Amino acid sequence: MRATAIAQPNIALIKYWGKRDTNLNLPAVGSISITLSDLVTRMSVETDTSLADDVLRVNGHEAQQMLPRISHCLDSIAGSERPKFRIDSDCNFPIAAGLASSASSFAALVVAADAALELRLGRAALVSLAGRASGSAARSLMGGYVELMNLDDDIAVNQLLGPEDWPLAVVVAITAAGPKPIGSGSAMEISRKTSPFFDRWIEQQAADLDAARSAVTGRDFAKLGAVAEHNCLKMHSVMWGSRPPIVYWNSGTLACMETIRELQAGGNAVFFTIDAGPQVKAVCLPGDVARVRQALAATPGVSDILVSGLGDGARAVTAT
Ligand code: PMV
Repeated sequence: MRATAIAQPNIALIKYWGKRDTNLNLPAVGSISITLSDLVTRMSVETDTSLADDVLRVNGHEAQQMLPRISHCLDSIAGSERPKFRIDSDCNFPIAAGLASSASSFAALVVAADAALELRLGRAALVSLAGRASGSAARSLMGGYVELMNLDDDIAVNQLLGPEDWPLAVVVAITAAGPKPIGSGSAMEISRKTSPFFDRWIEQQAADLDAARSAVTGRDFAKLGAVAEHNCLKMHSVMWGSRPPIVYWNSGTLACMETIRELQAGGNAVFFTIDAGPQVKAVCLPGDVARVRQALAATPGVSDILVSGLGDGARAVTAT
């Protein structure tokens, strides 16, 4: 039984940082993201009864290190008595570098496994399963502007607008392509346990979500940019205030933020956001992409630029 699914990463504009339940991997706060179109993970899964263990290949190479999380996610979908799988994942962008490759990977994995095993679990169950593997992955089940909400012992996602309803663009400035120093899961726990700013972060999230939700539905770019930058800097302040401190930025990250400030001063509709990595994501109106791209490409420390529009949620592309 085999199936292939594709999913795109999403970029949070109102971030999730911190867990309220580490076993179920439930987030401490809701979040709002945009799903990208041009960064893609394509995941094929195939059952193989001759295998003693799952086999994972990422971009054509065996990836033993990532296998435990993948196998665990498959167990949560199909039970531990399930057949073993050959899993082939292809990603057209850097992995584990703060570009949300885990979001697109786990979103694609749950959709592919569901299709291969003909489980027909439905979107809500797939959201929950993806979220258990990676909090942000749940949002990649939907396209466009997506809100993730906390339920009692679960999560749910809701599409605020489709990708075509307000087609913003994202210019990603890559300032380091290597893997990050600490994974987001462990880093969040350090923040929850040690950062003096963590409680305030949690308290203020509802207000940021309200502001961003109304900015999205009202297509108010200035309002969305203001709350998104604030929320991003607040999340990184929580990280910086942790012990040991969690610092994902490098000098290129700061230089990009400076470039975006200059672009804003020059009248361009652009704002930044940064996740658990040193890359800077500049969100802009489509008409500003060329200028934003050029300015970020000329910024010291930027090694590469990726440009994306907004795209659809995870979907199966074949099943046999
Ligand atoms: O879902 P994870 O474990 O990859 O954590 C995501 C954390 C951030 O990217 C920093 C914020 C977010 O909401 O995506």
